[in-house]
Amino acid sequence: MSDILDKRLVFVTGKGGVGKTTVAAALGLVASRAGKRTIVCEVAQQERMSHVFRREGVGYEEKRLDTDLYAISIDPERSIEEYLRTQIKPTALYTLLFDNRLFQYFAAATPGMRELVTIGKVWELAQFERRNPDAAPFDLVIVDAPSTGHGLGFLATPRTFRDAARVGPISRQAGKIDAFITDPGSTGVVAVALPEEMPVNETVEFERLLADEMGMDVDAVVVNALLPARFDEGEAEQIEQAAAANGSPGVEAALKAALFEHRRAHTQRAELDRLTKELGRAPLTLPFLFEPDLDLRSFDELSHELETQL
Ligand SMILES: Nc1ncnc2c1ncn2[C@@H]1O[C@H](COP(=O)(O)OP(=O)(O)O)[C@@H](O)[C@H]1O
Ligand SMILES: [Mg+2]
Repeated sequence: MSDILDKRLVFVTGKGGVGKTTVAAALGLVASRAGKRTIVCEVAQQERMSHVFRREGVGYEEKRLDTDLYAISIDPERSIEEYLRTQIKPTALYTLLFDNRLFQYFAAATPGMRELVTIGKVWELAQFERRNPDAAPFDLVIVDAPSTGHGLGFLATPRTFRDAARVGPISRQAGKIDAFITDPGSTGVVAVALPEEMPVNETVEFERLLADEMGMDVDAVVVNALLPARFDEGEAEQIEQAAAANGSPGVEAALKAALFEHRRAHTQRAELDRLTKELGRAPLTLPFLFEPDLDLRSFDELSHELETQL
């Protein structure tokens, strides 16, 4: 078993649409099958987990989806509320800060504030000693990270606050979170990419930035939605000839569709090879599933694919 499952916190990163949520869910299934008490976190009201697991109402509370598998949707406003509740006594200040409009103002005036409280909540979930002493600890927290510009922003947030505040409770807390997420014994990073030119470039760039700016490694790269290579070049040529041989329009269309998919699969493999060279190691791969909408069975299938490669 790979050491990614031995971390306490794993960030699944990547641009929107590459399959981050899918990979986070599949990884959650792998971990929970391995007997880890696992929670998958989505961030900022994406609310897709419930859809993913075909259960209603994954919200701000830790929700059990299966044996050893939980999900939560992290809301920054609720997170700061919870944090303040444990930090300060119910005073006028506390009541004031609970005022939604004030939080909105505070968050708007402080860039990165939402990210900081979100990552603070994720960090809290990964601690053996939970803020709420009744809350049971998790073995593994998987974060379906928000897709930001270059992906680094979210992970760099605690460090930014630590350095900007320098002294005081915010700096101290942010420093603690930064130390945890940059400790390879505690935190792992999974980068998801599609086998296409831009996502491949972005993944290589992300790995470089993460090392340069945070001193962190990408523990696993997952290339998602890889099309099957159904034909070799000889077969493709035969199909091309058949398509040109004046058959029925229906047959011709089907052959052309097959050729189109063959070329895409071919290009994808070239991109996968390029990524392998640039990274100096082979990424994990997940197949493209020909389903109109991925369901629980699809995630289960993908999780088994991941499991054999981890
Ligand atoms: N391996 C796959 N095969 C087929 N469809 C996929 C695959 N991975 C993701 N998808 C689909 O692609 C879309 C984007 O995936 P998602 O995991 O939501 O991406 P992200 O979270 O990065 O935006 C979803 O509709 C999802 O069902
Ligand atoms: Mg998503």
